[in-house]
Amino acid sequence: MTQPLPLLHQQPTDPAFVQNPYPFYAKAHALGAAFHWAEYQMDCVVQYDLARRIFSHPAFGRADPNPAKKPDHLTDFWAVEDHSMLELEAPRHPVLRKQVLRAFTSRRVRDLAPEITALAHQLIDAFPSQPFDLLTAYAQQIPVIVIARLLGVPDHDAPRLLAWSHDIVKMYQAQRSHADEVAANTAAAEFSNYVQTHIDAKRCTATDDLLSAMIAEEALTGPEIVSTAILLLNAGHEATVHTMGNAVVALINHACPASDPAIEEAMRFDPPLHLFTRWVYEDVILDGVAFHKGQQIALLLAAANRDPARWDQPHRFDPSRVPQQHLAFGAGGHFCLGAPLARLELGIGLRVLFQRCPDLQLVQPPQFADIFHFHGLDRLIVQV
Ligand code: HEM
Repeated sequence: MTQPLPLLHQQPTDPAFVQNPYPFYAKAHALGAAFHWAEYQMDCVVQYDLARRIFSHPAFGRADPNPAKKPDHLTDFWAVEDHSMLELEAPRHPVLRKQVLRAFTSRRVRDLAPEITALAHQLIDAFPSQPFDLLTAYAQQIPVIVIARLLGVPDHDAPRLLAWSHDIVKMYQAQRSHADEVAANTAAAEFSNYVQTHIDAKRCTATDDLLSAMIAEEALTGPEIVSTAILLLNAGHEATVHTMGNAVVALINHACPASDPAIEEAMRFDPPLHLFTRWVYEDVILDGVAFHKGQQIALLLAAANRDPARWDQPHRFDPSRVPQQHLAFGAGGHFCLGAPLARLELGIGLRVLFQRCPDLQLVQPPQFADIFHFHGLDRLIVQV
């Protein structure tokens, strides 16, 4: 026997929610494993165990089983998205993911450590003595330069990559205008041409980088390499910037050193991506919640990370907790492919920052940007 899900109302653009969505998630937890979010017209899962089961359950997936015809003004955006591993399921997804992982090896990631350390020092050397925005001066620079080097495109293109990435990720926000969609489409077209030009050059002369390694994987098609390069930049960049910003705030507010457990706890406590959707491929009842074929549901990762059934005093930032897997990187078949790189960047970036700037302090109360499903700061004005 299943009961209809409780109904909750919450505008995702409401300023109080944008600044602190956790009271809303706590309200949802008090009602059960899942609720119906009126403004999204979607069933949303907040319970940790149920969200994890769904991430790995074959009845759920990212690929839309009945894709509608895409509007003409989004042709270039969808040309990229249609080959993105994040939007595919079996049989293509596991093959594509395996091929990309063969190029994106742990050695390739580990080898970046000295470069990331040097880059962090170089950026800190340039910090001004007056208050400044740590997001633009530091948190944004590390991931974009690292991913550019990893792919094998020049550092000096970082500002263009950033601009394209910003325009494209607007497509994943709760509220977006027609102008945002047109800008995302233009960015997708320009970004694809840019990656294709580099692929053509590397086909003639291979270099020791991820793009060349993907070209060498014969099972990857040209459009898949272009989409993967764009996905790595978009997925790898925005989430890491926001995680670093949110973690700096948590570490300063709790006077906590930047240790590995503290960084993991920061990712549990205030992750940058709050909502991921899944399509339901067949009727199924899990933990008393009925899911219906054809329905699209949401998994609220940040709510699952504060599930009181999973974590003692979930709203407390406590790096000394017994480590348990949080859901900031998802789980199951789409588990974040870049998690080792993100952990390396955050570990080095935060450690070097706090070692070099022991008196780092917030000059203004941090304000979150109105960009849900992302949860990241607008700016982070600090003094060193
Ligand atoms: C702290 C930073 C990051 C966070 C919080 C994060 C979070 C996530 C999450 C939650 C997913 C799963 C989405 C789903 O299941 O629907 C995901 C997937 C993915 N992430 Fe990350 N990510 C981060 C950094 C990175 C980096 C640095 C890269 C690469 C350079 C990356 C590349 C990817 C890719 C390619 C996927 C798709 C995997 C697949 O579909 O099989 N991410 N990420």
